[in-house]
This record gives sequence, structure tokens and C-alpha cells, in this order.
Amino acid sequence: MTSEMTAPAVSAEPLWRLGTAYFSRKTVLTAAELGVFTTLSGAPASSDELAKRLELHPRGARDFFDTLVALGVLSREGEVYHNTPLAEHYLNSDRASYVGAFLNAADARWNQLIDALRTGEPQNRWGSGAQMFTEQYRTTAAWRNFTAGMDYLNGMIGPVLAEAFDWSTVTSVVDVGGARGNLAAAILRGHPHVEAGVMDLPGVEPVFHEHMTQLGLSGKITFHPGNFFEDPMPGAQALVMSHVLHDWGVSEREQLVAAAFSALPSGGVLLICDPMIDDDRQGPAGALLTSLNMLMVTPHGSEYTRADCRSWLEKAGFTGLTEAELGTHNTLITARKP
Ligand SMILES: C[S@@+](CC[C@H](N)C(=O)[O-])C[C@H]1O[C@@H](n2cnc3c(N)ncnc32)[C@H](O)[C@@H]1O
Repeated sequence: MTSEMTAPAVSAEPLWRLGTAYFSRKTVLTAAELGVFTTLSGAPASSDELAKRLELHPRGARDFFDTLVALGVLSREGEVYHNTPLAEHYLNSDRASYVGAFLNAADARWNQLIDALRTGEPQNRWGSGAQMFTEQYRTTAAWRNFTAGMDYLNGMIGPVLAEAFDWSTVTSVVDVGGARGNLAAAILRGHPHVEAGVMDLPGVEPVFHEHMTQLGLSGKITFHPGNFFEDPMPGAQALVMSHVLHDWGVSEREQLVAAAFSALPSGGVLLICDPMIDDDRQGPAGALLTSLNMLMVTPHGSEYTRADCRSWLEKAGFTGLTEAELGTHNTLITARKP
């Protein structure tokens, strides 16, 4: 028997699964781009009606809509398609929680992975420092799309963070780079005795207030406009940096950790949360993949190992480090100022 005729020793199934995971993502994001979920919101429709509204050719339409049912973003009762709650919240572009634009931008970016790997350059043109954000998000609508994407990510860890740390003796917290306050809101909901604040760039303030109104928390969380590389961090007993350190290179991370140390009182705590890489750098895949994403969106950002994070904290003078897993590959490291 020639080698070509031998049954393969290695199953192709894992590769096939990776391939169909890509098909799944592309199908859902194409549906968001076409407006499937926006048109179905409040107006369920049959396959023919939906294809007509979206100007789709009938050949693929039914398979497309039924695939969306199989993937859990549509449901079908008889012949009538509806949004599932997941799609209604995150994929209906009429909602402030819409993440279709955010995820589609990521899709376009990942087509540039080969260029990012060859050049080491981010695949956008937004400069570095605070400019990286202010150039990219020039309008309130752009900040809204971006912070909706952030909330889609931090919404999965906020309630866990509120439980994973003992907030009973903390009276005040500021979420540094806290975007429109979604994570601060999760802490406040779990621990109403805590005075909560957010520090972020001034351009975020309109979407912060908009989001607080939507959450029914108007006036409950203070917004501190500022640039964390230039302005002192607000004084609070606890400072949070969630998905902030991974945006920057090592020297900037050390600068931010040192600035937090200066701002905290003795006994104060810094909470750092990012999708951290295992110390042996063999996983988790989710953290390593987001590290590649940081390659494409920032000049110097990446995910980092827990050991790296511990070293920056200890260098700044923090002690009493603790670690907890928050899910979706996010690790929480806490550290106290002596
Ligand atoms: C990747 S987002 C993370 C948002 C949020 N902490 C979360 O976990 O979803 C980084 C945040 O840092 C803010 N930021 C970036 N540069 C900043 C600066 N120089 N000063 C203050 N905030 C900044 C951005 O506006 C953005 O809200």
C-alpha cells in the first residue's frame, strides 16, 4: 500500500472546527452588517419577507436565516424569524449596546494579520499615547461604538470582579480608563456603600453620562476627565485598571502602575485586570489571540504574563499581591500600597 492510500493518522477534525468557527463568525457579522437584526427588531418576518427587506437573492436566503437560528442569534416560530435576546441587545444597530460595528472593524483588521506580523506595525494610523484614542474616536458616535465594544467585553467580567474581591472595607473606587462606567456600575451594584468614579479622556464624558442614564445611575458615579499620562489619578482607596495596561508598552505600563501607587493612600489597593498569558506562555489561546489583536491596534500593546504584572507591581512598591480568574481568560491581580 502506498502512503497516499494509508488512512490518515491524524484527524482533520480540529482544523475543520477552526474553519467552521470562522464561517460562524462571518455569518453573524455579515447579518449584522446587512441589518438583519435591526430590521427584525419589533418586526418578525418570514424568510421571503426578510429577503425582500434586505434585498437578498432567494437562493442563499433561507440557509442564511436558518444558519443564524442554528447559531443562536435568531429563533424561528413556524415560518417567522425573531431576534434572540442576545441579538436584540448586541446586534440591533438602533441600540447603544450594538457591537456589530466594533466586531466588523476587528474582522477587517484581522485580514491584515500577515502585514502586522511582517512589519510589527499596528494596522491603523492612529499614532501613540493619548492620541491613539483621541485621533481614532473624534466624535461622540465613534466613542459610543468603541465603548459599546468595551462593555461587551467588560460586561462578562464586571459582576465577577464585584464578587472576586472583598469590597467590604473599601469606601471609594475609581476605574482608571473606565470608559463609559460599565465596570464601575457593576461594582456599585454589588456594593452600594462604595463611592465610585471613572477617570477617562474628556471625549468619553458625553457617552459616560448617556450610559449612566440608561443604567438608571445618573449622578451616582463621578466622571474625572483627564489624561492618565499627564494628570494625577484621582485619590481613592481602590483604583481599577481593566483592559488598560495591555494597550501600552512596558515602560508606559510601569508609568501607570507607579502613578497609581502615588495616588493611593497607604493601605489602598490597585486592581489590574487583563486577559493574562500563562507564565509558561503556552496558553490560554484566548489571551494569546487578544495579544495578536493588540499587535494590530496599538504601537506597543500586547497581553502579558502574570509574572510580568507581578514584577511591575513589586517594582513600584506594592505588596500583598493576590490573583483570581475572572473568566473569559481574564485574570485579576490585586496589590496593596504598604
Ligand atoms: C481598552 S479600553 C478599556 C475600557 C474599560 N476599562 C474596560 O475594561 O472595558 C481603554 C480605555 O482607556 C482610556 N484611555 C486611553 N488613553 C487614556 C489616557 N491617556 N487617559 C485616560 N484614559 C485613557 C480609553 O479612552 C478607554 O476607555
